[in-house]
Amino acid sequence: MPDFIDLDPLGPAAVRAILDEALRRKAARKGMPKGAVDADRPLEGYQLASIFEKSSTRTRISMEMAMRQLGGSVQTLSSADMQLGRGETIEDTARVLSRFVDVISLRTDLHEKVETIAALADVPVINALTNNTHPCQILADLMTVEEERGGPVDGTVWAWLGDGNNVSHSLIEAAGLLGFTLRLSTPPAYDPEPRYVAAAEARGGKIEVIRHPEEAVEGADVVVTDTWVSMGDTDSAKRLVAFSAFQVTPEMMARAKPDAIFLHCLPAHRGEEVSAEVIDGPQSRVFEEAENRVHAQKAVLLWCLGKL
Ligand code: CP
Ligand code: NVA
Repeated sequence: MPDFIDLDPLGPAAVRAILDEALRRKAARKGMPKGAVDADRPLEGYQLASIFEKSSTRTRISMEMAMRQLGGSVQTLSSADMQLGRGETIEDTARVLSRFVDVISLRTDLHEKVETIAALADVPVINALTNNTHPCQILADLMTVEEERGGPVDGTVWAWLGDGNNVSHSLIEAAGLLGFTLRLSTPPAYDPEPRYVAAAEARGGKIEVIRHPEEAVEGADVVVTDTWVSMGDTDSAKRLVAFSAFQVTPEMMARAKPDAIFLHCLPAHRGEEVSAEVIDGPQSRVFEEAENRVHAQKAVLLWCLGKL
């Protein structure tokens, strides 16, 4: 069963196919009510168990809307309400869920938990964010850039400012697969894990580490950041100091290309990683990016269930 745990193992062709399907389905349902089902109802009869061990607005709702629009059904579950929250093993949970549903998604802390569920479940498993990666998010980011350009992301220059976190790791994987340049600008103590950079470079990805954020954004097509304090981080006071020079400001955006866009997976903290002028300004595409979570999620579900 194809699991959607990280982007790199999928390879470039599968990621391209998922993006193309997401863009095609989004265009095909233009003007339809958001809860209306796509005409071909490709997941009629299919059931998703969507489990959250951490908070979520976009991922949770996009999973639900994606299944609805594909003609399937979803149960959204908090691990706290399941026996999982009382110590039932992830292994037994995986086996039981495989008897009930056709596909499972999990948002959790340890990446290994998603891998364990995937190893034991007889149905596909989707990573809905771990401490390591957030692949569903990056598909929406790629879609947003491709819509903006009216063509493939290849050849664009992206600047990631701030924390080398889970979202950055998935973006690094995407850069390894899809031929865009990714400039990483993080304080040294908050670098992304080197193994993600090494894997992307091994695929021929153009990853540049540029310590000064002003240099990183110079002539960029896309400026992207994320919270300085991710779910589970406990050292927020220290982080706010460490990242203070990495805020995406209008001055920072002025160094990028005149038609550069700003992306952020959300939730955002105005006055920390991004100024209100930028996120609420004309170059921001964060709400298009958020909407694209639904369209990208649909394509991921179809890929997992062998419908692409
Ligand atoms: N971007 C994102 O994953 O948002 P949520 O945490 O609200 O799901
Ligand atoms: N890096 C953030 C992303 C939230 C969608 C976190 O893990 O909290």
